[in-house]
Amino acid sequence: MEIVELDVVDSTNRYAYDHFNELSDGALVVSSAQTAGRGRRGRVWRSPPGVNVYISFVMKHTNQAFLASAAAGLAVLDWLHTLAPEVKAYIKWPNDVYVGHRKLAGMLCEGAGVKEGRLLGVIAGIGVNVNLDSEYLAGIDQPATSLAVEAGMQFDIKKVIPGLAKSLLRYYIIYSKYPERIFREWKDANRLLGEEIELTVGTGERLRGVFADIAEDGELVLISADGKRRHFNCGDVRIRRESVNWTKVASFNYSKEVRNE
Ligand code: BTN
Repeated sequence: MEIVELDVVDSTNRYAYDHFNELSDGALVVSSAQTAGRGRRGRVWRSPPGVNVYISFVMKHTNQAFLASAAAGLAVLDWLHTLAPEVKAYIKWPNDVYVGHRKLAGMLCEGAGVKEGRLLGVIAGIGVNVNLDSEYLAGIDQPATSLAVEAGMQFDIKKVIPGLAKSLLRYYIIYSKYPERIFREWKDANRLLGEEIELTVGTGERLRGVFADIAEDGELVLISADGKRRHFNCGDVRIRRESVNWTKVASFNYSKEVRNE
């Protein structure tokens, strides 16, 4: 597996995009720090040196950006489960990793370009808060957590990256053979299905309703109080905390068929 290790870069996603042709399928770009880490919807991803994971995984054999990113999300969950089984992480649509109501990891999947109407590939950029302490986390503009806070111990970043690399590759292979399994497992890992949520869409409009389903193309299905059923392919889900059944969320048992592949 090709792994490009950098000390500092503006953004591993930007690096992977600029070097896409030279990078092999399944390559991983890793950096100890980012000076312009990018989040979804134009947000900044804070990337202090040496304490977190900042990586971009290159997938060249995919024309289904949604399923490829779902596979990467499952790979992150599996890796977290191996590192700290007591930490009950789950996927929050579209592809954040949460523990309780706090964000532990984020994913920014970007297309690598289009040639003759075909997607050239997908770059899955993953940022995981690993060793951030509570003081630093309190300064983040949304509820956030880290693996260290959840597990009560520090992790050696250099030692944990190979496990994540392996997990990404494994799920990429499973995705290429059995995409339907990735969809099932990913949907199952979305622990907020059935809960009342507030969805902020691209225009900034906020919609309330029940997170009723995830369609096969990955779209969130929202049923509002007037009974209207609408599909969304992007947006920010805010958990209406009073509605959430945390027992159900915490009971996610990560050992399904995909894991045994
Ligand atoms: C989000 O939750 O908004 C997505 C965050 C994605 C952050 C990662 S860190 C590695 C990669 N490089 C970037 O610039 N962004 C992603």
